[in-house]
This record gives sequence, C-alpha cells and structure tokens, in this order.
Amino acid sequence: MEALSLRELEDEARRRLDPAVYDFFAGGAEDEVTVRANEAAFARIGLVPRVLRGGRARELAVTLLGRRAALPVVVAPTAFHRLAHPDGELATARAAAKAGVVMVVSMASTVAVEEIAETGADLWFQLYVQPDLGFTEQLVRRAEAAGCTALVVSVDSPVFGRRERDLRNGFLDLPSGMACAHMDGRAIAFRPDLSWDHIDWLRSVSTLPIPMSSRPWRWARTPSPSVVPSSGGSRWPARTESRGCWSCSVPSSTWRWPCAAAARRAT
Ligand SMILES: Cc1cc2nc3c(=O)[nH]c(=O)nc-3n(C[C@H](O)[C@H](O)[C@H](O)COP(=O)(O)O)c2cc1C
Repeated sequence: MEALSLRELEDEARRRLDPAVYDFFAGGAEDEVTVRANEAAFARIGLVPRVLRGGRARELAVTLLGRRAALPVVVAPTAFHRLAHPDGELATARAAAKAGVVMVVSMASTVAVEEIAETGADLWFQLYVQPDLGFTEQLVRRAEAAGCTALVVSVDSPVFGRRERDLRNGFLDLPSGMACAHMDGRAIAFRPDLSWDHIDWLRSVSTLPIPMSSRPWRWARTPSPSVVPSSGGSRWPARTESRGCWSCSVPSSTWRWPCAAAARRAT
C-alpha cells in the first residue's frame, strides 16, 4: 500500500527496517527534546493563502541560488541512504529529479556524487570542513566537476551528538560492505574550531554559492549569501531547536518567508 503521508511513510519504515537502522534515521541527540521541539515548530508554520485572484494556473516554482526549482523544497542532506535501500542516494536523487527539486548530497553519502549526478537531479553538495584542507578542497573539486551548483556548509555540528539510541543499539559504524563514498576510508571530523576563516578559505577555493546550515539568529557576522535555519536534525548538540526546517528553507533573499515568520512566532 502506498504511503499517503510522511507519517505513514515513517510507520512503513519502522515496520520494514532493522530496528537499529530505523533508530539511526529517526533518533536525535540525548533526550530528543529537540526532535519533538522541531516537529512542534513545523506544525506551527502557517501558509498564507491567496484567494480571489482569478483562474490563473497555480505556480509553485521558485528560483533558488539562480536556478529554477519546481517547488520551494530542497531535499536536505542525510547520511547513509543505502542502510535503508540498496539503491541508496540514487533512489533519492531519482525522486528529486522527478519532482524537479534540488537534492543536497551529504558528504556522508553511501553513493558517490558522480554517480548520483547521472540521475540528472539538480545537486548541491554538503560539506563538513575537514582538518585536512587539501582533502576538503579535493571534495569541493569533485562536487564541482559532478555539476553541483552550491556547497552547503554544515556549521551546526561542532561535535558529534550523543545519540543514545545508537549507543544502546551498539550502532556505531556502517555494516561491512558499505562506506562513505567520499571519504577514502577516513572518518568525518566534526570541528569545534570552525570559524569564519574557514568560510573565507572556502570562498577562496570555489566560486560556488555557500549556503550555511545553522541556527539563523546567532550570527556574529552577516551571513552571505544564504542561511538554512537548521538544528542539524537535532542529531548533534541537543537543545538547538531549528524553529524552521529544510522543507521550508529557501536560501537567499526569498528564504525569509515563511521561515523568518515562523522563527518570530516561535521566539
Ligand atoms: C538520518 C539523518 C542523517 C543526517 N545526515 C546529515 C548529514 O550527513 N549532513 C548534514 O549536514 N545534515 C545531516 N542531517 C540533518 C539534515 O540535513 C536536516 O537538517 C534535518 O534532518 C532537518 O532538521 P533541521 O530542521 O534541524 O534542519 C541528517 C539528518 C538525519 C535525520
């Protein structure tokens, strides 16, 4: 039976997946207070219907970082899709291409960005700046060569979150035969020392736009060109409610609606 809603899809995942894998996807850091807070924040987001405007065709398309998207939705970067299905990120990319929306390829993808690009999906690449800047630059070059049109730098994960479900399940590594396709066997480093210097460095090695994902109202410097309000899915430091969500996060000047309104209501 085809799922009619995200809730049904989640129920189906719970039924089908190995419980430890389900917990990896569904869980958050520590007491998961932020997982619940994010859901509540999403529920508070309202739409402003435009009525009595005649019989014009409905138009949901938007321009994101200079490219057209069929919907104001971006598929957020998430790790390890092959845990859920052998096609992994390829299946996600095919769905994004069919829907006409951008997919952000996680640096922790289990399929390489070059292969994902063959699906024809519009891609951005998510990056955690690694201590080895030479290696980080190689990743940037790979993403550029594969046709990614933005680098989404996750600055909301200075340390790895304490995910108690994973600890309880002993789910601490990928199963054998599965790997992060971009890491050449290295572990991904999360950096508490990340600073604007790293963003400036990134700008010096790439001309791609660099949207950053973080909480939007704690910036010491005006972020440019765009910010994705995010708590990293509440999987990294706990209690950093995003009060927005990727699914309504439209980078650049247009992202301010409706996320900013939701943030104002929630603060
Ligand atoms: C299973 C899972 C894996 C994730 N992996 C990544 C990742 O590899 N890189 C990243 O930047 N964010 C990752 N995220 C965070 C998501 O991109 C996204 O920001 C989040 O799920 C939506 O919550 P938010 O409103 O806090 O952004 C992951 C989230 C989940 C649920």
